[in-house]
Amino acid sequence: MNDFIFHNPDKVYFGKDIMKNLPTELLSIGKKVLLVYGGGSIRKNGLYDEIISLAKSADIELCELSGVEPNPRHTTVNKGAAICKEKGIDVILAAGGGSTIDCAKGIAAAALTDDGDVWKLVSNGVWVTEALPIVAILTNAATGSEMDAWAVISNMDTNEKIGLGGSALIPKAAFENPEYSFSLPAYQTACGAFDIFNHVLDNYYFAGDATFDMLLEMQEAVMRTVVKWAPIAMSEPENYEARANLMWASSMALNTVLDGGTVHDCACHMMEHELSAYYDITHGHGLAILTPRWLSYILNEETAPAIYRFGKVVFGVSDGYSPIDGAKAAIEAVSKFCFETLGLKPTLSDLSIDSKNFKAMADHACRGGGINGIGKLNSCDVEKIYEMCL
Ligand code: NZQ
Ligand code: ZN
Repeated sequence: MNDFIFHNPDKVYFGKDIMKNLPTELLSIGKKVLLVYGGGSIRKNGLYDEIISLAKSADIELCELSGVEPNPRHTTVNKGAAICKEKGIDVILAAGGGSTIDCAKGIAAAALTDDGDVWKLVSNGVWVTEALPIVAILTNAATGSEMDAWAVISNMDTNEKIGLGGSALIPKAAFENPEYSFSLPAYQTACGAFDIFNHVLDNYYFAGDATFDMLLEMQEAVMRTVVKWAPIAMSEPENYEARANLMWASSMALNTVLDGGTVHDCACHMMEHELSAYYDITHGHGLAILTPRWLSYILNEETAPAIYRFGKVVFGVSDGYSPIDGAKAAIEAVSKFCFETLGLKPTLSDLSIDSKNFKAMADHACRGGGINGIGKLNSCDVEKIYEMCL
């Protein structure tokens, strides 16, 4: 078990009756608020009206930036930063899924730079230690952005999608009312659920120190939670227990509680961000297509016991196989979960993606080096994994 520091200052309000705390939380930071949201889901599910009415009742000055795209663009972030500079915004309020929250984080960072250009921060790999404060209202259980230090920003002109990180990007507060995710369509529910699942699998299990039992079991509990509740949320969108379990799993998967003593390689995430940078696909769907192929690619005598253990504990694969056969059964269980239970299309060809850009994507995913982890991948390996997904 490695040494680690745990520090997550995000205050989470979770449950049905939390929104009344929003004005106090905002006013503890400032009076001028930029409300950031996406393409309109919060107008349809009533959240927008609730925010407006709470702001009015507390005399909060609201400006708005709407239309944040899934896979948020640097140009939209820069628009928001310009509003902050012009209006002297004190706090950014993000209401939506990961894209909206990430956009708000990018705005918060860029607003404090001289030229307000987030892409300079992203492309220079700046670790953001100063930003406007962010408050997040989560509507999609998926990315963990509501509690983490990362924003993923896309530049479609250059086909780049890159993480911007920094301690100043952790929201000051997150509001998580599972009822605001009732309106999520089944496809987004499935994609979000698999994103949560993969945050655990990708960030930890195969790369970490497997002697830290407590952490392994917490990781497995989060993955089991997704496997149990995602299909229920898809078939019963207003099932509160299902939505609540997924929402808290989303936050737990990346809020660093599960990080202690582990190594991060994020192989599927590095590979998926290239897919959405080139083809603007939904992040969780890309992960679902990649994950079983990645597991098959890294399967060997060394990785098999860990893959088998995860298959047994998360999917109930039987005891008694050899490590390699058990690991194969585990990978089969992951595939079934992605493509049968969650109903996601299984290949890149299904998303009209061919091999044309695989080499450039693989080179970029490896950033000129490789992707570390138990199965260290170089650019040729990544290209082969993309080909397995066709
Ligand atoms: O734009 P609106 O109208 O809000 O609609 C969204 C969007 O069309 C809709 N939606 C969200 N909540 C809804 C809803 N529709 C109905 N009812 C609701 N309650 O769902 C669609 C997708 O939303 P989006 O925010 O894009 O999804 P998600 O939360 O999966 O975020 C994906 C983005 O986050 C990045 C991804 O790469 C992607 O860009 N990630 C961010 C991470 C982070 N900050 O740490 C880590 C992740 O690994 C991930 O990379
Ligand atoms: Zn993710």
